[in-house]
Amino acid sequence: MKNHTHSFLLICLLTISVINLSCKDEVEPLIPIPTPANTDTIGLRDVSPFPFGAAVNISSLKNNTKYSETVSREFNSITAENSMKMKAISQGRGNYFWDDADYLVGYAIANKIRVHGHALIWYKSTPAWIESFSGTKDEWKAVMREYILAVVGRYKGKIESWDVLNEAILDDGTLRDCIWLQKIGTEYMDICFQYAHEADPDAILFYNDYGHEYSSVKRKAINNLIAGLKSRNVPVHGIGLQMHTNINNSNANIQTAIQTAATTGLKVHISEFDIRTNTSTNQILTYSSTIAAAQKEKYQVAVKAFFDLPASQRYGFSFWGVYDAQSWIPGEYGAPDWPLPFDKDFKRKVAYDGILAGLK
Ligand code: XIL
Repeated sequence: MKNHTHSFLLICLLTISVINLSCKDEVEPLIPIPTPANTDTIGLRDVSPFPFGAAVNISSLKNNTKYSETVSREFNSITAENSMKMKAISQGRGNYFWDDADYLVGYAIANKIRVHGHALIWYKSTPAWIESFSGTKDEWKAVMREYILAVVGRYKGKIESWDVLNEAILDDGTLRDCIWLQKIGTEYMDICFQYAHEADPDAILFYNDYGHEYSSVKRKAINNLIAGLKSRNVPVHGIGLQMHTNINNSNANIQTAIQTAATTGLKVHISEFDIRTNTSTNQILTYSSTIAAAQKEKYQVAVKAFFDLPASQRYGFSFWGVYDAQSWIPGEYGAPDWPLPFDKDFKRKVAYDGILAGLK
């Protein structure tokens, strides 16, 4: 598998180098012809026409060399898996914990990686002090505005894009109940974007959600929500599809999800991609070559469907985690699983070949 991947990368680079050498004015090729020994320095970020990304964990970035090397080799976009959520940052009114988010941004700048901010308003990440806050509607708006201005303002010019609103719609297409809806009303969905735009007018602002690949009702509701935001001139620039999917989901579903998102005219981010393989939560399942092949196919189909979008709408393709040993899926479903493109030893899985195949 590894040899196969290396051959593909080698052919790509040799082709680029031959093109470069054939231009008589070029003294040197833009990219040196790699020797087999240095092909390990080449990753998805070098062979893809759009950014590839991953959700990262700060202590692994700091303490696990293999982890940080894999991230910097493969990805040119990163998202904080948890450390930019409201619960992680907001310790009280006007009291913020920045260390982890700062570390991530510093690592990204040092490694020429773009940062995608995640997530400003998410029903699952409201700190206790906000849950127990009591105030008028205007006071609630002020709490939201203060937080968004502090976070987006701190990283202005350093974080390129934000998931401003995360998971505001339920699978049946109705609005999800949350504290912001209760205290501010439906207007909460407009003002979070307005505040983010106020803090950084250049930031690319996303509505992010899951389920596009299994619920046409939810897909339509999300597109309606976005159409509503646009009709009210709310600054929304992108649609994030989490796509926590699984090997039983049909190729057609995956393709339709991605194509339908693009009909909004917004930039599309596959923002949290992973593929569950243990859909029956079998406690003693092992990762077989059959499972690996099925997973590879889904990776290929999704990457290809994304690659087929207009270049201007391809914001990026991000995985929710770097390697299987640290995926959130086993914890979430209480069963072993292998959802990511790298195995527990950071080796490229067969799924990685699927990603490369999707780029052809
Ligand atoms: C998850 C993280 O992966 C977990 O570590 C954490 O315990 C809970 O949140 N949708 C999202 C992400 O938008 O923020 C979630 O991340 C996964 C589902």
